[in-house]
Amino acid sequence: MNDDFEKVNSKENKSILDSRSNLESIKLGIPSSSHVEKFKEKIIEMFNNYGALVVEFKSNEDPREQLLCFKDIFGTTLTHDRADKDMIAEVAVSDNFQGYLGTSNVEHPFHTDGAYEETPPHITALRCEIPAKSGGTTRLVSGKSIYDYLMAQNKIIANALFAPDALCVERAGRKSCQPVFQREKDRILIRYRSDETSTPSQKPEVQEAMLEIKKFLENKTNYMAFTLKERQVLIADNTRILHARTAFAKNEPRKMHRLFFSGKSSPESRLVFGFPA
Ligand SMILES: [Fe+2]
Repeated sequence: MNDDFEKVNSKENKSILDSRSNLESIKLGIPSSSHVEKFKEKIIEMFNNYGALVVEFKSNEDPREQLLCFKDIFGTTLTHDRADKDMIAEVAVSDNFQGYLGTSNVEHPFHTDGAYEETPPHITALRCEIPAKSGGTTRLVSGKSIYDYLMAQNKIIANALFAPDALCVERAGRKSCQPVFQREKDRILIRYRSDETSTPSQKPEVQEAMLEIKKFLENKTNYMAFTLKERQVLIADNTRILHARTAFAKNEPRKMHRLFFSGKSSPESRLVFGFPA
């Protein structure tokens, strides 16, 4: 194991996102999209340490520019059902997309994005154009806290979530049955969703584990909460961090733009995914 990797690993235990986390520690101010390259090292360091960061752009630009500028760092962009030609999806209340919690105002419970895909995106980026006046709060939780909690409760139920059919997620005609926890070398990647689109395996251990996760996610000390402001971009490791959004009034003009990245950028980018086993 190389020194860099050990450094990342030892820092990670101190980098759990929960109610004690301070937004300032994961926030990075950048003048404009053309300055992103200069901040590359810092962005990668924060991403690897916490699994998430919030970039706050100082200047007003096309929202698309403030997402596409991360391509060199986070790799190729990935499309989505509702995405445009740049693979960017507008996230706002709309009656045109029934069955998508992202285009509703009701609570969007904890999940990882693209859980119904065979290969979910490694990175999800969400830029705020118009925040809700009240509600619409972002919540983040570390996959490592969930894993550690389950292991402490009962190793058998925790390990049941490594089964290939632990969780099926189906949406818009696409269905994928995969583990919740997946080992990749000495890391663990998480994939999670718990709403009407998801069906856990009938195995009692899996059912119990999913109930335990729900219980864990209901405890507000276990997650970090904040409201994204205009020109702030949340960038998260979708294999390490679960995200949620609280409800807001239907007539709120809240508007966000989202873009997925593959995480496959140049080898020297040294991005680290998931959490240590
Ligand atoms: Fe999401």
